[in-house]
Amino acid sequence: MSSNTGPSAGSTEDPYSYHEGFGNFFTSEVEKFKGRAVPKDQSNPQKWNFHAEQLNGTSFVSPRETLQHVWFYRKTPSASHGPIQKVEESEKGKCRVEASFLATNDKVEYIPRELCWNPFIIPAAGNNNKNENSQKLKDKMPEIGVKGDVDFVDGIATICGNGDPTMKEGVAVHIYVASKDMDNRAFCNNDGDMLILPQQGRLDIQTEMGKMMVKPGELAVIQAGIRFTVKITKNKEGEKRARGYIQELFGTRYELPELGPIGSNGLALPRHFKFPMAHYDGDEKPKKWRIDTKLAGKFWYYDQESTPFDVAGWHGNYIPYKYAYNGFVPSGVIDRDQSDPSVYTVIRANSKIPGVPMTELYIFPPRWVASRDSMRIPYYHRNMATEIIGVIEGEYPGSSRDVVAGGLSVQPSYMPHGETYEAYYNHTQEPTVAPVEIKDQNKFFMLHISTHCAITKFAEGKTVRQPLKGNRGTPSTYLGFHREEAAAFEQEMEKQKKQRK
Ligand SMILES: [Fe+2]
Repeated sequence: MSSNTGPSAGSTEDPYSYHEGFGNFFTSEVEKFKGRAVPKDQSNPQKWNFHAEQLNGTSFVSPRETLQHVWFYRKTPSASHGPIQKVEESEKGKCRVEASFLATNDKVEYIPRELCWNPFIIPAAGNNNKNENSQKLKDKMPEIGVKGDVDFVDGIATICGNGDPTMKEGVAVHIYVASKDMDNRAFCNNDGDMLILPQQGRLDIQTEMGKMMVKPGELAVIQAGIRFTVKITKNKEGEKRARGYIQELFGTRYELPELGPIGSNGLALPRHFKFPMAHYDGDEKPKKWRIDTKLAGKFWYYDQESTPFDVAGWHGNYIPYKYAYNGFVPSGVIDRDQSDPSVYTVIRANSKIPGVPMTELYIFPPRWVASRDSMRIPYYHRNMATEIIGVIEGEYPGSSRDVVAGGLSVQPSYMPHGETYEAYYNHTQEPTVAPVEIKDQNKFFMLHISTHCAITKFAEGKTVRQPLKGNRGTPSTYLGFHREEAAAFEQEMEKQKKQRK
């Protein structure tokens, strides 16, 4: 844990500058308040140019290596706000968000069956159902149940999860769809840290620490208790359309995996993690802001007369960040057999069991596959973990159902799965001596959650109904391994081989 690295400059796709370096303590001051925003010798002087306010992400006495906090220097203390009111369940949107995945909750169910979802329709005034892929898909694209434009927070819907935020253990997996900005509205999630994975559309995220632009191919993490607002950047057609995935983490923090024998230079490099720089809106004409807070899955709100983004400077290490997958440095097998996908871990989080992660995020980067005499397609397996696949672009090939861009699949813990007989047969016919370059650019990811996950009743009602993939598209629950199907497929292959000769 060191001092600041230099800032990184903006680009056309991302106009903002950032501090760099995972795990660092930073000091950040808005240019016009340079030297006057953050006190040098202490954190909380008796008299100062701004109100000092601390946000603790960990308990005061946490061990130094886990301690996370930040000091803000702001125009108005956050405590200056109106009465806190509950958002009624019946109010638009909130019933789609779930936080408790205990078996006693009748809004969720643990299901030992692979489930799959098409991309959710992005609701938008006037152009509902005008969605990409909709012609190709065998099943309908599901809807979250909102008519007209929707902002980032109202567009969140929960698919599955484990645990409960009040027990400080577990995760929730959500999708989001958005077609308008959060206007004078900020969100504060008191339940957990949000890992945001855009699939479509750039998110212009303003946090109390500054701004981040996050696009497909990047991730963002916004920790619990930090207020933020999201604008949707227009696409080439001039429309605001965004969709993606969120993994919410209860109780622990995202961290980088240990490197072990890989050494100090692999996987996600700490300097590629980017942290926002202080940004000050305190000079704006005062206007009313609404702050929505989520606690134990329920929404509460309060109004205030000033912007929550009036921070002239800050110092600390409890800071949101973003990361672009294309900087990932993969390691893997260079002789035989196959590495477990954990070699592609970008970030992870501990569970309460020593050494066992609560969850890991894997990406599948461009790489060379160079194993000899080894099965190169995913091996057949049963894992104690739940595997959740999300697709940024194209299709995910390693599932027994088609998962397309924007969709996702959930493979429950301990349930057997693997490739179709067709993929298996074709692979066994190929020579596997020559190295093969996989050029696909990080088009899908896996959330590897080390426990069972319960599916929300909301999501269960919106799954893809298409049959499991068999040979030549025939419906099969045996992935084409059923004796007659496999024999017919092999005969067909032999026939084609003879015709080619
Ligand atoms: Fe798997």
